[in-house]
Amino acid sequence: MKQEQEFEYRSRLYYDELKWLYMELYGNKAMLDDLMETARRFYEERKPRLKRLDRKREQSPAWYGNSSMVGMMVYADQFAHDLAGVQEHLDHLKQLKVSYLHLMPLLKMPKDHNDGGYAVSDFRQVDERIGTMEQLSQLADLCQKNHISVCLDFVINHTSNEHEWALRAKNGEKEYQDRYLCFDDYSIPAEYEKTTPQVFPNTNPGNFIYDEQMGKYVMSTFHGYQWDLNYRNPAVFNEMAANLLFLANVGIDVFRVDAVPYIWKQLGTTSRNLPQVHSIMRMLRMLCKMVCPAVAFKGEVVMAPHEVAPYFGSVGKPECDILYNVTTMACVWNSLATRDVTLLKWQMDAMDALPREYTFVNYVRCHDDIGWGLDENAVRSLGLDPLEHKKFLYRFYAGDDPSSFARGRLYNYDPVSQDARSCGTCASLCGVEKAFWEDDPQEMELALRRHVLIHAYIASLGGIPVIYSGDEIAQLNDYSYEQDPKKSDDARFLHRGEFRWQDAALIHKPGSREGRVYAALRDLIRVRTEHKVFDADAWEHTWETFDKSVLAFERRKGTERFVGIYNFCEEKKDIPLGFNEAFTELFSGRRVSGMGLTLEPYEYLWLLRT
Ligand code: GLC
Repeated sequence: MKQEQEFEYRSRLYYDELKWLYMELYGNKAMLDDLMETARRFYEERKPRLKRLDRKREQSPAWYGNSSMVGMMVYADQFAHDLAGVQEHLDHLKQLKVSYLHLMPLLKMPKDHNDGGYAVSDFRQVDERIGTMEQLSQLADLCQKNHISVCLDFVINHTSNEHEWALRAKNGEKEYQDRYLCFDDYSIPAEYEKTTPQVFPNTNPGNFIYDEQMGKYVMSTFHGYQWDLNYRNPAVFNEMAANLLFLANVGIDVFRVDAVPYIWKQLGTTSRNLPQVHSIMRMLRMLCKMVCPAVAFKGEVVMAPHEVAPYFGSVGKPECDILYNVTTMACVWNSLATRDVTLLKWQMDAMDALPREYTFVNYVRCHDDIGWGLDENAVRSLGLDPLEHKKFLYRFYAGDDPSSFARGRLYNYDPVSQDARSCGTCASLCGVEKAFWEDDPQEMELALRRHVLIHAYIASLGGIPVIYSGDEIAQLNDYSYEQDPKKSDDARFLHRGEFRWQDAALIHKPGSREGRVYAALRDLIRVRTEHKVFDADAWEHTWETFDKSVLAFERRKGTERFVGIYNFCEEKKDIPLGFNEAFTELFSGRRVSGMGLTLEPYEYLWLLRT
């Protein structure tokens, strides 16, 4: 096909459906024509290197589900001061064989309060403290040369109150007030408050703030300085779509679409997960398929388990390509605290029942808190009261339970609902910090094993395992945020400390905890990338282990059969698992066959048969 026809060809595939959805939502053909003009312009401006990638990925649309995809998420400034620093330190990622780099928000943001960059003041400018758009584009080029995909947040739900639109709204320009949800008095906000839950009940209660300058209430679901966009206004959709395409043309491979479920608001509802959200995601996806099909969408849907999968859309009408495996993450921490893998196994069973095409990001820690969104019915069927169990968990990870090995902090404790979430780095939550301060080598041993065990677990699932920067060297909590008035009310900064390069230098020192964890994670990644059985679309099924602390599951793809076995407790376990055929343990090379297995405390086995 002639290249000048490429856009037309792709548009023909998607235009009818796009028009249908757009007209249903906005009924404005002129605005749709504008949108298509914008799409064509971005197609024409797209660099040849990216167009080549588009064509390649059109041939293998599920490119991100390959076992070689292993991610790391980093704050450019915390990791290496700025974007130039990230370029210089790319070797750190390459040595670990990281192939997917999630750069945490780096676009222009307010100086002080910016929710870790999730309050964007300009979608087309990198924050000057972090670098320039030119540097971001260079980094994306460099990453592509090194087979590393770049992921960037697309903060779709809101802008900062310093964004040009917000400034013009404050100045009284109605056109811009209409891009947000602004109200003259509190009567409509009061109606919304009756049914809309709060995201930060403690640090940012309510869903509206009053802006003195504008003399109006404005919806701000997250923080008061994050103003919710009004997606009922087609100008908002068109401009945000253009921002997305602009960033795609900078060379972003994957967009983490932030807080997706929140983008459509409706009185009398929770303003979460409404059908229009799906139309908007579908439209954005179709635009990308026309302009930049190399791009994939990763939806940030931190919702109850049954509310997550719908964001993949349907087979004929897909929406997100990748979603976060948020419940599995919470179940992992639940298993460590209770030494009981039952919920985790049930969660895996639920995941295994989903279509194999669904690709998830698997992770143990990220920049956010751990929300205890376990399946309440599953918790009840274990004879536990969901609220009491949640209280146990958040106290455990704050180090307030006598049985706890963790050091962490509560996040957004709500005295009314008694809900709270947990913060802390993986290592601190696994016991490394406590063992360090108590100078207890035995506890340290167990803590390090926990840290590696849960990374081994996520590295053996299908999908994309993503390591939170710092966890590869078992970095501890950083309490300095408590002294910083801009951060002290947000305990998530506990696990957003600077990357400690002085500790990273110890990875080659024999016996250092950094070296031990780093080597273990590097081996996990190496082995994973060598086997197709870790591809997202492999068949997976859990096994019965006859021990509530031990999880086992099997994966199959092609001629490969993999069995992963994980001991989630500090006791040695004899497990009555039988192997009719011999398997090879992938790290030690040991042959495993016959009846019975012994697992050391927190030991994991990766068994393979080809
Ligand atoms: C997402 C981010 C979180 C942020 C919120 C508001 O949930 O992960 O860090 O506070 O969106 O943008």
